[in-house]
Amino acid sequence: MTGTENPTTTTTTTTTDPDTAALESDLREGFFADPPTLPPRWFYDEKGSLLFDQITRVAEYYPTRAEAEILRARAGDIVGAASTVVELGAGTCEKTRVLLDVLAAGRSDARFVPLDISTEMLFETARALEQEYPGLRIDPVIGDITALEGPLPGEPGGRLVLFLGGTVGNFSESQRDGFFRMLRGIMAPGDQLAVGFDLVKSPDRLVAAYDDAAGVTAEFNLNMLDVIARTVDCTGLDRRDFRHEAVWNAEESRIEMWLRAVREVRIDFPTLGRGRTLAAGEGIRTEIARKFEPHALIDELAGHGFGGQAVWTDAAGDFGLALVVVD
Ligand code: AVI
Repeated sequence: MTGTENPTTTTTTTTTDPDTAALESDLREGFFADPPTLPPRWFYDEKGSLLFDQITRVAEYYPTRAEAEILRARAGDIVGAASTVVELGAGTCEKTRVLLDVLAAGRSDARFVPLDISTEMLFETARALEQEYPGLRIDPVIGDITALEGPLPGEPGGRLVLFLGGTVGNFSESQRDGFFRMLRGIMAPGDQLAVGFDLVKSPDRLVAAYDDAAGVTAEFNLNMLDVIARTVDCTGLDRRDFRHEAVWNAEESRIEMWLRAVREVRIDFPTLGRGRTLAAGEGIRTEIARKFEPHALIDELAGHGFGGQAVWTDAAGDFGLALVVVD
């Protein structure tokens, strides 16, 4: 019978670190595919998070500044009559403060729920917000934004869910579909959703935003190899064998980040019992960043039961913010 132990045998239990197990699963799924892919979550160890923070400040990377401009200009419209604001992938909430100013000033029962997978950063952010907004209830929640289970905190119909930064562009079509479906399932009629998304523009500007002259994005991309080498048992994985590349894929309307082998490389993963040889010039795709036409995302959201839309852009028309409501 399953689950019973044979008392005559010795059982050895090996506990695998959850990150190792998750990465092994991602490698099995993506690294041996054509082309080989690795999910962007492996960018974000401590160094990677600091590098991303630096990316948001380089001259070529406009999305963070453009979205902040929209939030400043539209804070009142975005917060509206919401009593609870839930931020998915809250991070340090740097840009969100302009919305919290409005939320805290508007009502005495207001509540902010920062949700993030990074426990340490989440609690640090929550502590800072409690100091800055003494009248606001701060309820941090640890969670994977792609696998949320309801109900969301707050009064049904009085919630505003924020998904900022353009992260929606890092999902594939099917991941985006699953994400909106999941959100619709845990939100109630009247709840609002604000999504930040990057807009199609000249390929030169897009490529420069993902391949800055100072090399910060290159370092961010290459850092993933260090994260992998540290997290799973492997041989032959060396960042010096790869270079960063950002390309515009016009057909898919997306920037793609690649790690391209500069010579033939053989990488083995003993715990997976598998390895792969990459020819010189062959690449591993580490990220996609879809760029939208202004109404493409709105149409998709409408198909998932989110209507009554507003779309704002920054003055230069580089970045968009969609505000929709559950029908
Ligand atoms: C997190 N995400 C929205 C960023 C983007 O623009 O796709 C990640 C990034 N990758 C390279 N630069 C920034």
